[in-house]
Amino acid sequence: MKTSEFARRRRQLMRMMGNDSIAILPAAPERLRNRDVEYPYRQDSDLHYLTGFPEPEAVAVLAPGRRHGEFVLFCRPRDPEREVWTGPRVGQEGAVSEFGADDSFPIDDLDDILPGLLEGRERVFYTMGRRPDFDRRLIAWVNRIRENARSGAHPPGEFVSLDPLLHEMRLFKSPAELRLMRAAARVSMEAHRRAMRRCRPGAAEYEVEAELIAHFRRNGAEAAYPPIVGGGANSCVLHYTRNDALLRDGDLLLIDAGAEVGCYAADITRTFPVNGRFSPQQRAIHDLVVKAQKAAIAKVRPGNHWNDAHQAAVRVLTEGLVRLGLLKGRPAQLIKSGAYRRFYMHRTGHWLGLDVHDVGDYKVEGRWRLLEPGMVLTVEPGLYIPAGSKGVARKWWNIGVRIEDDVLVTRDGHEVLTDGLVRSAEEIEAWMAGAD
Ligand code: GLY
Ligand code: MN
Ligand code: MN
Repeated sequence: MKTSEFARRRRQLMRMMGNDSIAILPAAPERLRNRDVEYPYRQDSDLHYLTGFPEPEAVAVLAPGRRHGEFVLFCRPRDPEREVWTGPRVGQEGAVSEFGADDSFPIDDLDDILPGLLEGRERVFYTMGRRPDFDRRLIAWVNRIRENARSGAHPPGEFVSLDPLLHEMRLFKSPAELRLMRAAARVSMEAHRRAMRRCRPGAAEYEVEAELIAHFRRNGAEAAYPPIVGGGANSCVLHYTRNDALLRDGDLLLIDAGAEVGCYAADITRTFPVNGRFSPQQRAIHDLVVKAQKAAIAKVRPGNHWNDAHQAAVRVLTEGLVRLGLLKGRPAQLIKSGAYRRFYMHRTGHWLGLDVHDVGDYKVEGRWRLLEPGMVLTVEPGLYIPAGSKGVARKWWNIGVRIEDDVLVTRDGHEVLTDGLVRSAEEIEAWMAGAD
């Protein structure tokens, strides 16, 4: 991503904030996995969106109209001794030359410098509640200015969440963002294809997971979220991530996995038979979910509202469940009463971008939001019939099917970013029967 794109975003945000404001965005903290070992670091999506800055221990400040520069970046100073252990840091010079900061200070100077930046500004754009430690520091800085009010210091009068402005910007993807999302989609589709060919009765779920992760890493990507690789009964566990069971002949395998490229996620689910051939019941449920997804994707176009796709999926799934004898009654009534939720208990999608469940409002002033070009969402209907389901014949048990694709709203409809991956039962069987 070019530095000019980050600069454009900062300018746009500052224009909306107004000149008497200031925005403060701390970097994501490093998190311990065990004792002194950290989880792989991932930058906060908001900070990344505005700066591209990759390091922890940083704070971005946007101060529109500031004479010495509007974009101030606090970050770790260069430190040859530390850098022996953890590699080169960007440092103050790099913050300016590589990341377009107008001014950069060492992160340890934050307490000394930030009150001066806040002083005289009316509104502080900052998202409270996400980082309690940082919230307290910010309040202490403001209090320090208040204490000096008698000497003429002017403390900010208003705290405003950054989310509405920033997340509205993030909801609409630029061409550069879409390039990264297409790259994430491509790597993810390849990984799913490889996983389907790697799957065989007797293999462990984690062996299939390894295939996914290996393909992500081989392509410089990583997993956007822990892959779900669930065979048989585990296909009915929505957020299954143990991935440690053996795959059995005759079972289905549900894989929900997506790559992250340049911080942008893909999110794909496919469900297929461990042995390469669907049973009649597995096939019936799979066909039904394919049909529901098709109906839902058809609703993705400008002018339709967010919930249209979900309603279309629910209608197709409920009618199909009645046809198969898994629900009894009139579809309209089963939808109204929510009886279908027994087998379809989640929603049909979410926004997708820097975060897998990306930011952006789903409702505006109490009404489902209208779709507009540049939005990206997932469409992911499913049906889940766990073992022991009362009143359901045994032949249907342990069938969990979800099919998930990533869809861009375009000017005249939509584009399925993940359309190149086999989806229907015929396509899956043909792909799995192919040579290694
Ligand atoms: N992978 C999480 C989801 O599908 O929403
Ligand atoms: Mn999803
Ligand atoms: Mn998913």
